Amino acid sequence: QLSVREQLYEILALTAKFYEHALAQPQGHGALNYLLHDRQMRPEIIQQFQLGYAPGGWSTLHGYLVEQKNYPVKLVEQAGLIVPRKENSGYYDRFRDRLMIPIWDTQGRVIGFGGRALGDDKPKYLNSPETDLFDKGKTLYGLDRAKAAIAKQDCAVVVEGYFDVIALHAAGITNAVASLGTALSQYQVKMLLRYTEHKKIVFNFDADGAGVKAAERAIGEVASLAYQDAVKLHILNIPNGKDPDDFLKIHAAADYQKLLEVAPRWLEWQIQNVIGGRDLSKAGHLQEVTEAIAKLLGSITNPSTRTDYIKECAEMLSLGKSWRVRQLEEDL
Ligand code: UTP
Ligand code: MN
Ligand code: MN
Ligand code: MN
Ligand code: MN
Repeated sequence: QLSVREQLYEILALTAKFYEHALAQPQGHGALNYLLHDRQMRPEIIQQFQLGYAPGGWSTLHGYLVEQKNYPVKLVEQAGLIVPRKENSGYYDRFRDRLMIPIWDTQGRVIGFGGRALGDDKPKYLNSPETDLFDKGKTLYGLDRAKAAIAKQDCAVVVEGYFDVIALHAAGITNAVASLGTALSQYQVKMLLRYTEHKKIVFNFDADGAGVKAAERAIGEVASLAYQDAVKLHILNIPNGKDPDDFLKIHAAADYQKLLEVAPRWLEWQIQNVIGGRDLSKAGHLQEVTEAIAKLLGSITNPSTRTDYIKECAEMLSLGKSWRVRQLEEDL
């Protein structure tokens, strides 16, 4: 007799197979074409990431799991796969006519799905709800496949999207994982740190407004670790591009590796952001920048660490060093 959790794992694994199978059927032809042509994905990558297709009907999966396989309807609901109807009795399939991406835990068990719209349906991605097995803040997409490479290269790359992970892995950059459309949590960063010796992590969020905000929020989450050097955090923003998947469509893996190598440390990145387009030779601008930096450094409680960072910031601002150190110290 299987426990509820074991049954949930079983249902989810079976569902991933069901979607995979549907992708190879005539009904999945549109989705398959989307992967092969629009996203230029190789068949072995589609297989490796167990991509699938959720058929368009309202109760295709329900029919399969409940009627054919005799799973209790409540368990299928608990797995996040069907949704109770509001007015009438019964259930409908959560995922319909979507490209399906299974999400695994660190041991490679399916715990949820991301479903991408094939047309302009909203939302673009529909994800599994949180369940007994699926806790978004404690999951990183692709970690089960990335963990060996993270350990070997002593570095983890965090990206925003499912397809970013897939594109990077397809290009041989296999130490990449994604947060799941939610803000990256400190817990998730700590999960990654378990696999690295020297604690190097690179955030590569989209080079759009949302991505910069996500990077800033994520930095906030790990700032307390970063200030103690418990994580060596670097930030990569792809120039003129959007996300790693877009970049790898027109550039080689080696070009991406180069970007990784030169990605600035988080503090440099933040200071560059603070400086932005400001002209530091103007007193007003310089004042704004020193105030913003003082705010950045204000949360460092250890006095000697703080002095080190103040010196570093002063160097980055490069003119009249001693004046600026004094200025920063006063603002703090
Ligand atoms: P993006 O909008 O950057 O998606 O959101 P993407 O992965 O680049 O999408 P493509 O390339 O157009 O397919 C980044 C991530 O945020 C989550 C998903 O995990 C997505 O991969 N997201 C985004 C959602 O959960 N829901 C959404 O509606 C949109
Ligand atoms: Mn075709
Ligand atoms: Mn984006
Ligand atoms: Mn993106
Ligand atoms: Mn994308």
